[in-house]
Amino acid sequence: MCVADRSVISPMKALILAGGAGTRLRPITHTSAKQLVPVANKPILFYGIEAMVSAGITEIGVIVGDTRAEVMAALGDGSQWGAQITFIPQDAPLGLAHCVLIARDFLGDDDFVMYLGDNLLEQDLGAFVRAFESARASSEPPTAQILLKQVPDPHRFGIAELDANGNVVHLVEKPADPPTDLALVGVYLFDRTINTAVREIKPSGRGELEITDAIQWLVDQGHRVRCELLTGWWIDTGKLTPLLEANRLLLEVIEPRIDGDVDSESSVDGRVVVEAGAVVRNSTLRGPLVIGANAIITDSFIGPYSAIGNGCEVVHSEIEHSVIMERSRIIDIPRLEDSLIGKEAEVVRSGRKPRALRLMIGDHCQIDTE
Ligand code: DAU
Repeated sequence: MCVADRSVISPMKALILAGGAGTRLRPITHTSAKQLVPVANKPILFYGIEAMVSAGITEIGVIVGDTRAEVMAALGDGSQWGAQITFIPQDAPLGLAHCVLIARDFLGDDDFVMYLGDNLLEQDLGAFVRAFESARASSEPPTAQILLKQVPDPHRFGIAELDANGNVVHLVEKPADPPTDLALVGVYLFDRTINTAVREIKPSGRGELEITDAIQWLVDQGHRVRCELLTGWWIDTGKLTPLLEANRLLLEVIEPRIDGDVDSESSVDGRVVVEAGAVVRNSTLRGPLVIGANAIITDSFIGPYSAIGNGCEVVHSEIEHSVIMERSRIIDIPRLEDSLIGKEAEVVRSGRKPRALRLMIGDHCQIDTE
């Protein structure tokens, strides 16, 4: 009863973080927002918006930083998802808790999901949200709920320690000597108490207001912090290898569909999507893969786990396990693998030497391999 009343009076909001510096995906992030890099030909950030909307949350605040123009243009007002988006500019990446601080007017006193815009999760978040709502109606309501996942490299994440009853007792950000291997996934649920917590904490050694410190403050003040263990896969896409892994996992479950034009000299094998307006001539497509709208593939082999963006051109080349962003050209390259190619880039070979290439190159770059 209590839960139903709360949802009528004030539905849960979402705060999606799409600011930050993106230093680990340079050079792509010199010119583009890391949250807009596509996996399986869809910007990472769109998966987060879709996850919120399918969990029933449509009032969404988005934190934007230096790349705000691009992020705002990509998301618009949110109506393409049936959501209402409010953009909240952040002048400098001063930390995840700083994002909560500056979102105060948007958040009001409402409960909200905080979602890191570079995270991708397999799991549907509806059950996670509902679990918080029903726990909030209990006799010992939590003020926060976090999602944890065992990881092999805990020094790269926020890490949680639990007591014998499974309650969160200690949190630490990227510890040199991790006390456990339970990483904080980039999805958090809060009630309004977090607004006080983010005002009380001080910047960490790296100069950021850490959300882990704000949650620790809640614990230290005697508030209950619930946690759940994540079941499906989770990827923090901030670097090349996890980004390619996310691309692979999403392509593995893509629904095959040929809307473009594939000529009779070409062969298509496995889970393959060819978008409308794409043209494939005398080529082999071995899925899982996706060819974007209006792309042209000629005399080429496109192998498993490749995402070729809209308007790309691939001629007489072989590509595998790579993300090629929109309107790029790959010409005469004997083999391109494990690569991320920015928008409107050009990779050509004018010489004769055949060799395999592994590249991460930024938007508008031109590479001649000789
Ligand atoms: O991915 C999970 C990890 O995310 C957690 O385990 C850590 O506890 C948490 O601190 C965070 O660590 P990262 O180092 O991965 O955070 P990153 O700086 O990549 O920022 C996450 C997202 O938030 C990203 O989309 C950029 C955005 N952001 C970040 C900061 C610091 C902002 O919008 N503003 C900011 O000030």
